[in-house]
Amino acid sequence: MKKGYFGDFGGRFAPELLMPPLLELEEAMGRIMAGEAFQRELTELLTHFVGRPTALYHCANLSREVGFGVWLKREDLAHTGAHKINNTVGQALLAKHMGKTKLVAETGAGQHGVATATAAALLGLECIVYMGAEDVVRQAHNVQRMELLGATVRPVESGSRTLKDAINAAMRHWIAEQAATHYCLGSAVGPHPFPLLVRELQAVIGREALAQFRERTGKLPDRVVACVGGGSNAIGMFHAFVPHEQVALIGVEAAGDGSPGCCHSATLSTGTPGVLHGTMTKLLQTPEGQILPSHSLAPGLDYPGVGPEHAHLQALGRAEYVCVTDDQALAGFMRLTRSEGILPALESSHALAHVLSLSGTLPATTDVIVCLSGRGDKDLEIVRQALAKRDG
Ligand SMILES: Cc1ncc(COP(=O)(O)O)c(C=O)c1O
Repeated sequence: MKKGYFGDFGGRFAPELLMPPLLELEEAMGRIMAGEAFQRELTELLTHFVGRPTALYHCANLSREVGFGVWLKREDLAHTGAHKINNTVGQALLAKHMGKTKLVAETGAGQHGVATATAAALLGLECIVYMGAEDVVRQAHNVQRMELLGATVRPVESGSRTLKDAINAAMRHWIAEQAATHYCLGSAVGPHPFPLLVRELQAVIGREALAQFRERTGKLPDRVVACVGGGSNAIGMFHAFVPHEQVALIGVEAAGDGSPGCCHSATLSTGTPGVLHGTMTKLLQTPEGQILPSHSLAPGLDYPGVGPEHAHLQALGRAEYVCVTDDQALAGFMRLTRSEGILPALESSHALAHVLSLSGTLPATTDVIVCLSGRGDKDLEIVRQALAKRDG
């Protein structure tokens, strides 16, 4: 495979001014991150700071209701409440070893911003977080968390005022201040080496899930399901299972309100190949290459691109990508909350909703692991408004 590519997807489509820090990062991954000392330090932080391994939980109530085994990989139990912390602790540690003093980041749902601000506080780095102005309003609670952690939050007023625009702003900042700054990218997107870096740091999710499931049952699961925004929790969950062809891998995208012509974030299901944020992937775009607006009830899924490795897994037929609407995700949120006493993030609720839609269709011996990428506390206001609208 061509370096930095996943089949036809990936690569490094970056302006000349971004090439030096990208090459520096690639070199640091090989020299520092691959080393035993770095890995030991990272494992120490993941164990005692992040709280790994996270639990693999068998949902006895939900399994009884749907007629097959439902298991949750509990990334909601990781420090700060989502899988994003695995990536930021790793990148912050790498940045520190590279001699950087500042992290710049972008965030949509705010979880990556909180996770970056947390890692920066831990490791004594300055932190600047770009966030679409619309997301600043939708996720006010996370803005307050970032500020308390010592980060500077910069609202981005351009474009659709969401994640896509925040990434543009963070990249511009990195170009201008590359000597002292590491760009702590929040998903498995962007130019090489970011999709590889983020996947390596998130692959701990699937490695643990595979070992935990084997230990409990003596076998492999039949299906592994995860929501897909940029695709970092999904690629982290899938990676260890990819060589095990008998395990079906299913990524769940956001279909928005589901009406014909509505905005959604179903990039792999409906998008076409193109370049966004420095990588060749599948995009929501017009035939002329204009990026289309995206939408999801779950702010973390609201992105018109996707990680290139997912486009590759789809092209290979190794992973399948399906869609779930806002209403279905809301129903998934309520069902897990009431059945198991766990409030899932709205992003993860998409993955759950897909599994619930399989109710009664799979043999009782089937086991499905869902990546519960985060907890729902950040989404309480969105849920309150959506329930009020639904119930008139
Ligand atoms: C809880 C949670 N799950 C999933 C996502 C989607 O991102 P990714 O597809 O990179 O895992 C986000 C993004 O903010 C998130 O906060």
